[in-house]
Amino acid sequence: MQHEEKVIIIDFGSQVTQLIARRIREAGVYSEIHPCTSDPAAIKALNPKALVLSGGPSSVHDVGAPPLPKEYLTWGLPILGICYGMQILAHTLDGEVTRSQDREYGRAEFEAVGASPLFDGVPGKENLTVWMSHGDHVGKLPTGFSRMGKTGSLENAAMCDPVRKIYAVQFHPEVAHTDQGERILANFLFKVAGCRPNWTMASFVDSSIKIMSDQVGEGKVVLGLSGGIDSTVAAVLLHRAIGKRLYCIFVDNGLLRMGEREEVIGFLEEHFELNVKCVDARREFLDKLKGVEDPEQKRKIIGYTFIEVFDREAKAIEGVEYLAQGTLYPDVIESVSFKGPSAVIKSHHNVGGLPEKMNLKLVEPLRELFKDEVRKVAYELGMPENIIWRQPFPGPGLAIRILGEVTDARLEILRQADRIVQHELVASDWYRKVWQGFAVLLPLKTVGVMGDDRTYEHVIALRIVDSLDAMTADWSRLPTEILARMSNRIINEVKGVNRVVLDISSKPPSTIEWE
Ligand code: XMP
Repeated sequence: MQHEEKVIIIDFGSQVTQLIARRIREAGVYSEIHPCTSDPAAIKALNPKALVLSGGPSSVHDVGAPPLPKEYLTWGLPILGICYGMQILAHTLDGEVTRSQDREYGRAEFEAVGASPLFDGVPGKENLTVWMSHGDHVGKLPTGFSRMGKTGSLENAAMCDPVRKIYAVQFHPEVAHTDQGERILANFLFKVAGCRPNWTMASFVDSSIKIMSDQVGEGKVVLGLSGGIDSTVAAVLLHRAIGKRLYCIFVDNGLLRMGEREEVIGFLEEHFELNVKCVDARREFLDKLKGVEDPEQKRKIIGYTFIEVFDREAKAIEGVEYLAQGTLYPDVIESVSFKGPSAVIKSHHNVGGLPEKMNLKLVEPLRELFKDEVRKVAYELGMPENIIWRQPFPGPGLAIRILGEVTDARLEILRQADRIVQHELVASDWYRKVWQGFAVLLPLKTVGVMGDDRTYEHVIALRIVDSLDAMTADWSRLPTEILARMSNRIINEVKGVNRVVLDISSKPPSTIEWE
């Protein structure tokens, strides 16, 4: 998509680089993240309005520390350096970066010094609580720079050269723990770089509809609807662009929650008049899962079977040339890692391999958006809250919440228990406060008593977690009355269950799903 103005973030590998992009976009300015190893000519070709240099784990003195290409300093662009971004600026110019023995991590009291547009009008700028995470610090400012702020332990906690419009802070304005961080970033965008706040989801909807209709022309597009917000928003947007030439396929794999199929499809057909084909592939999936207990094998079988079914259905639509996917921006950012690849804990979450196998051209309407922006687009498109705030549901569905073999009988037990958990979360107003809440069926039976009789039946575990991005999670501290109601209802209403337990583990070391 063509953007009138964009701010480019040069990523030096910080854990929170994505937050910088999100904060800048929240201020109404489009921003993109590019790795610090990018070719400066390619960055220049993007015609940025300003550059932000992110933090990163290295010390500028380390062998192999990522350098700052000097070109960036010669284009006359406004620059904001954050943490490592500040140090690499000082190091590349003629300042000095001093090594420290200890890392300073956490909150610090910051005092803005002198007048600078960065802290202009920032309330309480003489005493801001800011978030720091650094070892080294700038010992000597480069020529032309003056000090913009200090803390109790840092003489130069912020610096600027107003003539060249280069500003830098040692703290992280992008994180929520920094007071007035949004205001400080906004000052850089609007007072230093002269950006205009024209990135809105309404403008995104208008321009993406135009772009997609230009891209697809008179062609036909096929899209796999999962019921999640990403594929649903992608479908509604595309439908606006090309109408009935969008063919949505919803595969019922037999591993869905109770009522899910009707809820997803009914709503899309009724309110958006989407062309949706529901494929009943329940038997096909369940037959292939017969006797399978290993979680990774389950995931693989479900993944391959989905591709087979989808491919077959797509081929049945005459003349389809395009495949639409709900890929989001975090999936396309090239990540900068100085620590090597991380281990595979669970095989890839999303259906891989579809485009290669199907030989279709890709349409990815949400490729530029963060998840919170997708939600805003959904509001813009008039989608209802229950779709917008739907909790994530894994592609392999209930199969990875039934430990051991997946059978019709076990699916039925889990569906009923899960429906109670969903219902109680909504009824108590906790549904949107937690990241995910669901039931898991354990592969064991325990003894209980019902009336005068001994029972020997299944155990359900409740997994309810808080999280921001599913990378880490903690078990939700739900009021005990709600847990009690869930437990009572499951034991009383779900035949075959006589015990409910609560999962109180965090991620890491546990994961959210049990398989
Ligand atoms: P874990 O269990 O890895 O889950 O802590 C993190 C998040 O990802 C979801 N999840 C999946 N989503 N296909 C998906 O589409 C999968 O195979 C899958 N496995 C886990 C999980 O629900 C949680 O939100």
